[in-house]
Amino acid sequence: MCGIVGYVGEKKAQDYLISGLKRLEYRGYDSAGIVTLDDEGKATLLRAKGKIANLEEKLARAKRDDHIGIGHTRWATHGEPSETNAHPHQAGSIYLVHNGIIENYKELKAQLKEFEFQSETDSEVLAALINSFYQNGQYPLVNAVVQALKLVKGTYGIAVVSEIEPKEMVVARSGSPLVIGVGHDETLIASDASALIGHTKRAIYLNDGEVAVIGKNSIEIKTLNAEPVSAKVEEIETNLAAIQKGGYDHFLLKEIMEQPESLIETLRGRVNLKEGMVHLGGPGLSEAELRKIKHLIIVGCGTAYHAGLLAGYYIEQFSPELTIETVIASEYRYRSAYIPENSVALIVSQSGETADTLACLREIKKQGVKTIGIVNAIGSTIAREVDGGTYVHVGPEISVASTKAFTSQVVAMVMFGLTIAQAKGVKGAMLRPYVEEIAHLPEEIRTVLDKVPDQVRKIAEKHAEYDHAIYLGRDTAYPTAMEGALKLKEVSYVDANAYAFGELKHGPLALIDDRFFEVVLLPKGALYEKAVSNIQEVLARGGHVVVVTNADRFDLPVEDVVKIESSAELFAPLLMNLVSQLLAYYITVCKGFNVDQPRNLAKSVTVE
Ligand code: AGP
Repeated sequence: MCGIVGYVGEKKAQDYLISGLKRLEYRGYDSAGIVTLDDEGKATLLRAKGKIANLEEKLARAKRDDHIGIGHTRWATHGEPSETNAHPHQAGSIYLVHNGIIENYKELKAQLKEFEFQSETDSEVLAALINSFYQNGQYPLVNAVVQALKLVKGTYGIAVVSEIEPKEMVVARSGSPLVIGVGHDETLIASDASALIGHTKRAIYLNDGEVAVIGKNSIEIKTLNAEPVSAKVEEIETNLAAIQKGGYDHFLLKEIMEQPESLIETLRGRVNLKEGMVHLGGPGLSEAELRKIKHLIIVGCGTAYHAGLLAGYYIEQFSPELTIETVIASEYRYRSAYIPENSVALIVSQSGETADTLACLREIKKQGVKTIGIVNAIGSTIAREVDGGTYVHVGPEISVASTKAFTSQVVAMVMFGLTIAQAKGVKGAMLRPYVEEIAHLPEEIRTVLDKVPDQVRKIAEKHAEYDHAIYLGRDTAYPTAMEGALKLKEVSYVDANAYAFGELKHGPLALIDDRFFEVVLLPKGALYEKAVSNIQEVLARGGHVVVVTNADRFDLPVEDVVKIESSAELFAPLLMNLVSQLLAYYITVCKGFNVDQPRNLAKSVTVE
């Protein structure tokens, strides 16, 4: 997510803006910028691609004693990371920083023909829109901001300053957080309170639909309909680390719990429930090219590989004539695999920098195969080198263990599969169940995350002493079991492995003894009874079984049953995976290990 800071007061604005942006670095970003105004409204705008250090190099040559300004760290959504696309954006005499997504920016841009756009961003369109009202006499600045926001569809947290009124700034929010720090002879703003710590302990959290006019000793809040809002001043949590974790003890738990919201960002503007269809702009394949696809190669490492395996199971369910192979990048790049005609490769990577995946991408491209990225980090190397792509937009994933990215990668790849099927004329009746479940998945995830954590924490406490674990599942629950085993392995160092449930009796059953506990992902459906009899095989050998199921009734004498209450059937394994994620988290907490930075691991494996 982008970071926003703003200052108006007696001190030097540039100092707070830079220190505030540094507090927000943990959120991940790819460019940064600040603008300050002197008392006459003369602006000093500095922007730089990359880290804040690059911005500070420019600042060293542009020191000002200005007392008002705004700043931004950008996590690119529209337009690659660059100085031109960095915020603040200027439009006429106003400057704007924005966090969020303006969904209708294209139609707004079309109405601003006289404006010379410099960037590819949706945010610059908002700046131009505000300016179009401002230059037509909508004074003071807040009036122009309100007129523009009434036309906006999407999410925003914004701060705006003007060369004509350099004593005040205007801030507003809808869907992206904005907090106002109440100081002495100064007022500060930020997209999260961590930037305010050390400056003030008093904060006002703006609510959606509210606009504030801020001076060094004044804060006036109204709704977009000009109804006055009485400001509620709250005490800021002073523990910086805690704040940056949004109140959670660890980023891993925060990222598990924010999956409803992160998946909403993945789906934004891409699912048409009424039509029962999906619309992916990114892959950049024509209808004709989509119709020609006969073979999909899905490439990834670790969790990205598991996401590809799971997505492959789903895609083949509604694409009878499509062949799919999901491969481990570090293996595939050295194989002499034959790639059939009319193949497309999906390159899956959260970081977009994984060396093996990148090397695989380059090998596949050499063979003239179209490559489509399923990536989170915008502007990353893989995102830049694929022929087309779909960003998953889950925001920065800080914890080394991947969670929210996995869920969104699976859904994004299924949507790509649906896009192919739609182009091939697969019957809507075959595709609609997938589209409907995808559309409702965020709320289903929220329901599960509201219900299961306490029970999973208790199960984790009971199983924290085991050194070995086996995850088991059939069909779509099998790659999901693989992901669950990886999660436990990489954060708690428990020797956890997954097996196709039907494979157990071909060897792994010999392992079962008191050293192990077993986690069974048990979706209801055609294979349910077979899996139940497999559970009985494990119990007969003294297994310590935890079952995660959406079945209405399950009454075998296992140690624990985690019930998934959800209408989702096709994507039930993704809901079961939430339990695996939480189990890994709570077992690791019981062990007292470093949850977010497990030993030996890096968030992005840029070495081979
Ligand atoms: C997942 O929890 C691990 N951190 C690791 O397996 C990761 O998925 C793998 O390194 C691939 O990373 P990428 O998605 O950034 O390419």
